[in-house]
Formats: sequence, C-alpha cells, structure tokens
Amino acid sequence: MTNKKIDIKPADGKLGILTPGMGAVATTFIAGVLAARKGLALPIGSLTQMGTIRLGKRTEARNPRIHEFVPLAGLDNLVFGGWDVYTDNVYQAALQAKVLERDLVEALKPELEQIKPMKAVFDKSYVRNLDGTHVKTGATKMDLAEQLMEDIRRFKAENKCDRLVMVWCASTEAYTEISNVHESLEDFEAGLRNNDARIAPSMIYAYAALKTGVPFANGAPNLTCDIPAIVELAHQERVAVCGKDFKTGQTLMKTIVAPGLHARALGVRGWFSSNILGNRDGAVLDAPENFKTKEVSKGNVLDGIFNPELQPELYGDIYHKIRINYYPPHGDNKESWDNIDIFGWLGYPMQIKINFLCRDSILAAPIVLDLALFLDLAQRSSLLGIQEWLSFYFKAPQTAPGLPPQHDIFKQLSKLENTLRYLMGEELITHLGMDYYEELEKEYEALVQAPA
Ligand SMILES: NC(=O)c1ccc[n+]([C@@H]2O[C@H](COP(=O)([O-])OP(=O)(O)OC[C@H]3O[C@@H](n4cnc5c(N)ncnc54)[C@H](O)[C@@H]3O)[C@@H](O)[C@H]2O)c1
Repeated sequence: MTNKKIDIKPADGKLGILTPGMGAVATTFIAGVLAARKGLALPIGSLTQMGTIRLGKRTEARNPRIHEFVPLAGLDNLVFGGWDVYTDNVYQAALQAKVLERDLVEALKPELEQIKPMKAVFDKSYVRNLDGTHVKTGATKMDLAEQLMEDIRRFKAENKCDRLVMVWCASTEAYTEISNVHESLEDFEAGLRNNDARIAPSMIYAYAALKTGVPFANGAPNLTCDIPAIVELAHQERVAVCGKDFKTGQTLMKTIVAPGLHARALGVRGWFSSNILGNRDGAVLDAPENFKTKEVSKGNVLDGIFNPELQPELYGDIYHKIRINYYPPHGDNKESWDNIDIFGWLGYPMQIKINFLCRDSILAAPIVLDLALFLDLAQRSSLLGIQEWLSFYFKAPQTAPGLPPQHDIFKQLSKLENTLRYLMGEELITHLGMDYYEELEKEYEALVQAPA
C-alpha cells in the first residue's frame, strides 16, 4: 500500500547554514561543499549526495540517489555563516585546523576568506580551555539572545536567503544536568533575564534560532536543545530540532559492530575504548568537566543496543570504559583502540581489536551537510519539534520524553529511509519479502496443473 504524499514546500532560493563555532568541523564542511561545487572533490560520506534509496519491490530496480528522490536544497544554493570566539575567517581557520591539504584550501581562498565569524555568545565557565576575545557583551543573557536574533535576521537579508538552518559546531561545554530553569519556557525566559548561570551559551543560540523560526541541530554532547524549555519553544514556533553529538569515529564503529554481535546472540563481557586526538576539540575535552559531557553522551550507546535487562546472561555484566586523551602530535587525525571481550557457544571467550585511524572532521563534515539539508526538508514538510528520524547522525539521539533512543545504526538508517519514503508517498519497506515467494508458489502450482 502506498502512502499519501506529504505536502512539501519547494526548496527554491538560497538556504543559509549558520554554525555557532567555525573550527575544524565547520571549516572542513564549508570548504568541502565549495570543493564539491567546483568539481574538485566528491562529497563522500554524505548520504544526501552519494546515497541511494530503494523504492518499491527489489525486482523494480528503482534505486535513485537520495537528492534526486526528495526535494533538497542544491549545493549551489547554500550560503554559509556563523559565530566564533576568534576573529579568523574561514580560510584562516581552515589552515589553523590543519584538516585539509593546503593546496585545496588555497584553491578556495577567495570564497573562504569572505566568510567571517560574527561575535560569539561565550561564557568561559562553560569552556575553560578557550580564551577567545571576539565575544558579545550584554547586560543579560536575554540581551545576548536578542543580539543573536538580530545577527540571524541581518545575515538572512544581506545574503538574500530564502530559509536558514543552524548546526552547533562549537566546542563541547562543561557538563550540566537539567534543572528547574530548563523545565519550562517561562522559567527559561526568566532565567535569561536573570542571567541564570545554568543557562549555557549553546542554549542561548538554540533559543535565538527557534525564536526566529530557524531549525536547530546540536552536533556536540551539550544539553542545548535537549531540554523541555527548548522543545516547548520548538512546538510553539513550529520549528524542527535534533541532537546530539555527531556520530563519527569510535562511536560510529561501535554502533556498526555491536548490532552484529547482538544479532548473532554473542555475549560481551567488556568494551574498552581509548582515543588520542590533538585538535582544539581535544584540548577542550582535556578539561574534566568538558570530558564528562562527552563521556555521558558516548556511554549509553552499548546499553541501547544490547538491552542487558532482556538478555542478562549475555550483556548483564559488561564493563564499558571510555578514555579520550589529548595528544597534540596527531592533530585532527584521531586514533582509537577498542578491545572487545566477547564470548560464544558454551561461554568460550574471544577478543576483537579495532584500531581506527580516522580523521575526525572528515567524518563529521558530511554529517553537518546532511543534517542541514534534512532539517530544511523537515521544516518544509511541516515535521515539527524533535526529529528522531535523524538519530542516524547522533551519538545520543534526542527523542520524545520517555522514549528510549535507537542506537543501532541499521535501524536508524531504516527509520531515516522510511521517513523519506513516507514523505514522498512511497511504500514503506519492511524486508518481509513473502510476496516474491507467494508469486513463485503460484508459478509452480500453475506448472503442476498445466496439461503435459
Ligand atoms: N569532529 C568530530 O568528529 C566530532 C564528532 C562529534 C562531535 N563533535 C563536536 O563538534 C564540535 C566542534 O568540533 P571541532 O573539532 O570543530 O572543534 P574546534 O575546537 O576545532 O572548533 C570549535 C570552535 O567553536 C568555537 N567556540 C567555542 N565556544 C563557542 C561559542 N560559545 N560560540 C561560538 N563559537 C564557539 C571555538 O573557538 C572553535 O573555533 C565539538 O563540540 C566536538 O565535540 C565533533
């Protein structure tokens, strides 16, 4: 049965992508889109650009590229802007991040140096290891939010954008828990006016985005839009939100390998994950209060996949340990080691070792692109509030209150693809596939009954 197609507004005109934070991830994303636009490189790792989606029955052989199937903004129609605590333009920041080859950055210099960060909303108590000076001042946090809203409106007008989205690409903030100031929009707004210390800068950006009708995605593990007040605002303003923490490197591997072990009912006794990285993100995470935010976001993945309460004999006693160590010589080229102690038939132990020499921002950049394009699609399709179908991109997916997140990357992908099929009025795919065999059965029956 085919669904009714959802009414989706066209992706006409320019889409502005605003990133609070213009460091390694944001500059790799922007430079990458510009390079793809010029035909200098391919946007590899981006599902929207490179991915295909199966439609209908396997025998129909309909497998369009995702960007040809759903109406997404084209790469030529994207405009970039953002905020940072440093004044470096995107050309300078890309060189400083040392992710991309100098030659590529030089080839894009004229466009990259035009993109200059706006002054940030920053609070050192949330990021102890940074010392930026390109920072807004205001009597209250509400003043700062209003300044951000003014930046957003000005950017939209100056760049003649039709629509905007915001993706948080700034540093990980110190660990915070939900408290009463985050519980309702009324309390949150009072907190903004009273300079409540529990309101982090990222929450002020999320507030400003939603107040101006701009969908918001959170790429870091901070609470940010994952608080009742911001979700309430998203519904009030009819805007899409999602988070949190881009699923790259080690967690990406974890959510690929763990569902496989679980699928084969193999037991897991321990999972030790260690990382070394030397970029600015690593320097920020060297502070224990910022590392705690990351640790919590990464830590829930295995429980979400193994559900130890359902199979305690296989997963009830997993020792899961995560370490991130700042090691400057590696720069953005993060290295991770996983030691996985598993057990099989009759409890016999085995081990798996994974040594992933990854490039953090190379894995994160396509996620920023996909999130921006899909959030814009969600907004044009009137999908409001939390966008759980974008869990695929996050380490700690935001879900409706009380709903456990889905961490298994294959289930996440299936949810994403079925959401696209649903939007476009295509049949959802269950992979049951009985119909092929029912048809075959009919053919055999006809053969048996046919006169010799
Ligand atoms: N690279 C990955 O694979 C990956 C994966 C998951 C999450 N993340 C998260 O994405 C974020 C960005 O990572 P990165 O490698 O680009 O880090 P980065 O340190 O290179 O860039 C972050 C930038 O944000 C700026 N910043 C800090 N606070 C700000 C504020 N309040 N307003 C505006 N700008 C601010 C910093 O000056 C810096 O330039 C981090 O929070 C990181 O934890 C990255």
